[in-house]
Amino acid sequence: MSQPLDVLGGITAEQFLSEYWQKKPLLVRNALPEIAHILEPNDVMELALDENVTARLIKQKDKDPNQWTVKNSPLIKGDFQKMPKLWTLLVQAVDHYAFDLAELWKKFPFIPQWRRDDIMVSYAPQGGSVGKHFDFYDVFLVQGYGHRRWQLGQMCDADTDFIAGQPLKLLADIDVHFDEVLAPGDLLYVPPGLAHYGVAEDECLTFSFGFRMPNVTDMMDRVCDKFSENQSLKNPLIDIIRDQVSRAGEVTENELAYLKAEILTQLQNSIVLDDAIMSLMSESKYPENIPEAEEIGTGDLEEAFDQGYLIQLEPASRLLYSDQDDQVLFWANGEAICISEQFTPFLQQIADGQSVALNQNLADEEILEDLSLLLNESILMLIPTEQ
Ligand code: SIN
Ligand code: CO
Repeated sequence: MSQPLDVLGGITAEQFLSEYWQKKPLLVRNALPEIAHILEPNDVMELALDENVTARLIKQKDKDPNQWTVKNSPLIKGDFQKMPKLWTLLVQAVDHYAFDLAELWKKFPFIPQWRRDDIMVSYAPQGGSVGKHFDFYDVFLVQGYGHRRWQLGQMCDADTDFIAGQPLKLLADIDVHFDEVLAPGDLLYVPPGLAHYGVAEDECLTFSFGFRMPNVTDMMDRVCDKFSENQSLKNPLIDIIRDQVSRAGEVTENELAYLKAEILTQLQNSIVLDDAIMSLMSESKYPENIPEAEEIGTGDLEEAFDQGYLIQLEPASRLLYSDQDDQVLFWANGEAICISEQFTPFLQQIADGQSVALNQNLADEEILEDLSLLLNESILMLIPTEQ
């Protein structure tokens, strides 16, 4: 992957990862021109009214634009009546609805799938913004429609103060060292912690390709859940340390050390730990976006061979694998999945973001059973190729 990439303005992925990723911003003009006509403002408005969508409507008071209100989804038509001059509509996970957008993740093959979160779109009239703020995650901000002026400032962290009494975590000010207007197709990479402020220059749509990273609390929670499934760990430990009489109120150092050692021994169990972490990372953030699949059997699949269908990942689902000691294990939508060895290379390709043709290469009973199971659970989907 060492050739210069257009999406990165002609630098290589390696250069981007070593110089910019998690460190400093990068502006690329005309990085993703194909994003320009995928969604229009009306589509975003329509999506926001869908009861299953996660959206927020942010308004600034006409009399005092420093006073903000936020209405979370479900949004209804009434929420859009009596609108102030300045507002922003944010809709999460639009890539789960617009497959052309989901395809654009492929422009960032240098960041693995498990780091991806979702694509959010923001829709604002001239002057609209979500205020000066920072995020804890990496984001590629891509202009889709109209223009947005971006100002970038200082690095912030968990100790940074926010303006009190507002429903958003807003910064009082930013030290502007970057000030540019983005047009459709332009991209701005913003690393975690960097203060940013984007104001619509005209009616505009901005797409945020957001990334995620697990935190230790969530991983530990998951590890606890996995251990609590093991009934034998619920039995009281054996009191092998009771060879001396100690003071009645004291837990001795030895006793504490023994109890801690029992926990740490369990934590060496990498099967449970791997399962906990992989389950967490493969969890879908918007499981309600995973569609109900139409029941498909192995016979139906055989009949569809060579009729131009491609198998790919359902955009709202997550499929990850880990390859350890030549054994490839898969997790999808928060759970370990068990598939045949024959299907493994195909499913790896799909998890890597490629599509696999539904043809005679899959003519194997076990493969077809695995495939029908994953299609019926909407982990995978079939799409007809354009002919
Ligand atoms: C926006 O598009 O207005 C908000 C995106 C962000 O600041 O992360
Ligand atoms: Co932001």
